[in-house]
Amino acid sequence: MLQVAGIDTFYGETQALFGVSLEVGAGEAVALLGASGAGKTTLLRSVLGLTPARRGEIRFEARDITRRPTHEIARAGIAWVPDDRRIFPALKVRTNLALGRKRSGFKSWSLDDCFRLFSALEYLMERDCENLSGGEMQMVAISRALLGSPGLMLLDEPSQGLAPKLVQDVMSVIARMKDHGVSVLVVEQNAASVLKVTDRVYVLSQGQVVHQGASDALLADAALRKELLGT
Ligand SMILES: Nc1ncnc2c1ncn2[C@@H]1O[C@H](COP(=O)(O)OP(=O)(O)OP(=O)(O)O)[C@@H](O)[C@H]1O
Ligand SMILES: [Mg+2]
Repeated sequence: MLQVAGIDTFYGETQALFGVSLEVGAGEAVALLGASGAGKTTLLRSVLGLTPARRGEIRFEARDITRRPTHEIARAGIAWVPDDRRIFPALKVRTNLALGRKRSGFKSWSLDDCFRLFSALEYLMERDCENLSGGEMQMVAISRALLGSPGLMLLDEPSQGLAPKLVQDVMSVIARMKDHGVSVLVVEQNAASVLKVTDRVYVLSQGQVVHQGASDALLADAALRKELLGT
C-alpha cells in the first residue's frame, strides 16, 4: 500500500532523513519507533508532502506521490493525526467531525462506525472541544481522520499525554482500525504497548532505519529492545 524507497529529507540545509525505506502492506499495522529527534515525525511529514523528500520515491497504491501537494495525497486516501491533534477548540465535537468528512476509493466511514469504535463519542457531540480531556480530544482527532475514509492512517504519538488506561484504549483502537481494513503507520514512545498491536516495526536512529522486523520478535527480545530503544 505504501512504499517509501530511499528518501532523503531536509529542513533547509539540515538533513533529517538519510536513505529511509519502509513499507506498509494492505491491512497491516506498522510501528515506527526511535529516540526523540530520530526523524519519525519527519518521515510522516515526507509521506504527506508537508516536508517533501528531496531524493528517493514514495508510492501509495503503486502511484508515485513523491513531492505531490498535500491535499492531493490526502485525497488519495492517506489520513494523519498529528502529535498536537489540531482540533478546533472553539467548535463543537460535531462540527470538528464534519470537517473530516471526505469520500475516497476506500471503505467509507460513518459517524455510527466511529461511535462503535469509541462508545463515549456519541455523548460528546454537542460539547465544545475546548472542554474535552486529552483522551476525549484524541478520540475526536482519530474519528475525524477516519471520517475521511482513509486507506492508510498515520498516527503521530497517539498515546502522548494520556493516562495508562487510555493508552490501552488507543492501542485497542489501532487493532480495530486494522480489523476494519485500514492500514496503520503509528509513531510511538510507548514501545511495549504498540508492539502488541502492530505486525511489523521499524526503528529509526539519527535519520536512518537501524532495525526492521516482526513486532512480536522485538517484543520478545528485551536485550535488543534495550539496545535499540534504551527501554
Ligand atoms: N521544522 C524544523 N526545522 C529544522 N529542523 C527540524 C524541524 N523539525 C525537525 N527538525 C529536526 O529534524 C530531526 C528529526 O526531527 P523529528 O521531529 O522528525 O524527530 P522525531 O523522531 O519525531 O522526534 P520526537 O520523538 O521528539 O517527536 C531533528 O534533528 C530535529 O531537530
Ligand atoms: Mg515527532
